[in-house]
Amino acid sequence: MPSDLARLEQCLRKAVVAEDSYLTEIASHLIEAGGKRVRPGFAIASGGTSQSEAVAASEDVIMGGVAVELVHIGSLYHDDVMDEANTRRNAQSVNARWGNLRAILAGDFLLARASEIAARLGTEVAELLAATIGQLCEGQILELRDTYNIDRTQSDYERSISGKTASLLATACRVGGIVGQCRRADIEALTEFGHSYGMAFQIVDDILDVIATDQQLGKPAGNDLLEGVYTLPVLRAAQGPDGDELRSLLGKDITLDQRDRARELVRSSSGVEEARSEAQVWADKAGSVLTSLPASVATAALQEAADHLIRRAANPLER
Ligand code: IPE
Ligand code: IPE
Ligand code: MG
Ligand code: MG
Repeated sequence: MPSDLARLEQCLRKAVVAEDSYLTEIASHLIEAGGKRVRPGFAIASGGTSQSEAVAASEDVIMGGVAVELVHIGSLYHDDVMDEANTRRNAQSVNARWGNLRAILAGDFLLARASEIAARLGTEVAELLAATIGQLCEGQILELRDTYNIDRTQSDYERSISGKTASLLATACRVGGIVGQCRRADIEALTEFGHSYGMAFQIVDDILDVIATDQQLGKPAGNDLLEGVYTLPVLRAAQGPDGDELRSLLGKDITLDQRDRARELVRSSSGVEEARSEAQVWADKAGSVLTSLPASVATAALQEAADHLIRRAANPLER
């Protein structure tokens, strides 16, 4: 229900108020900047699948949504430090505005507030959220281990995105299901939906890094190549028949001109197409797992999200 999201926004802002107004300002920055709120949206919709009609989300379900969005935003603070990104959500990134030290501390603060909220929602949610934060770190570390490695395998890439992205989308749905008192079998289906959605979502994001502009993304495009993060479309292009020039460019720090040339090479290879079809497989999986859930207004909303992602896997530039 639209009013659920309005309540979520209120609670999100309240959750990051610190004693010190300077910390509150830094911690609120990306909340104010917007974002799609996919994860809390999924938590709320997942919680709603226990009832066939649309009813207002319980306070606990809203707070479950707040907790997962805080983990997401905290991880973005840290990710933008790692990626040396200057923009995020069409705004200046926290590290660009306040520096790395404050970005890291404010990110920690957001994770701490998320943990506090999760603890109030019960031990199962608290344990799940803590485990998910661990998985985010594992996924990011796997990515770092393979920077500048053009021979990174697809399975290493998949393990990394499963940890850094799919785990939190799975948890967003699972938290909603637990707190919304869904049946156990439905909680498992919701978790699998979130995981598959997250895998497709990150592959599409990785394709966009190669084919979109900064304006379209609201964050720096082409940054993965500069940082030595070689994602599925790039790995596939490098392994393809015309991969030699790309391979000779990559594997080290590159200039902006070399980055543009590398993007061109990936775009003209079959790498993007192959990554799209991989995203399609995960997005289709996300859609089909929902058929096991009881019919409800909330299940239809999740189905709509899956259908939208299926369309974006076919055409990543579609909004
Ligand atoms: C960005 O996530 C990080 C990735 C997993 C690609 P979103 O695309 O959901 O970012 P916001 O929340 O809308 O800013
Ligand atoms: C996802 O990775 C970030 C997190 C899980 C925190 P990316 O590095 O690809 O995300 P963007 O592209 O900066 O949003
Ligand atoms: Mg990044
Ligand atoms: Mg990153």
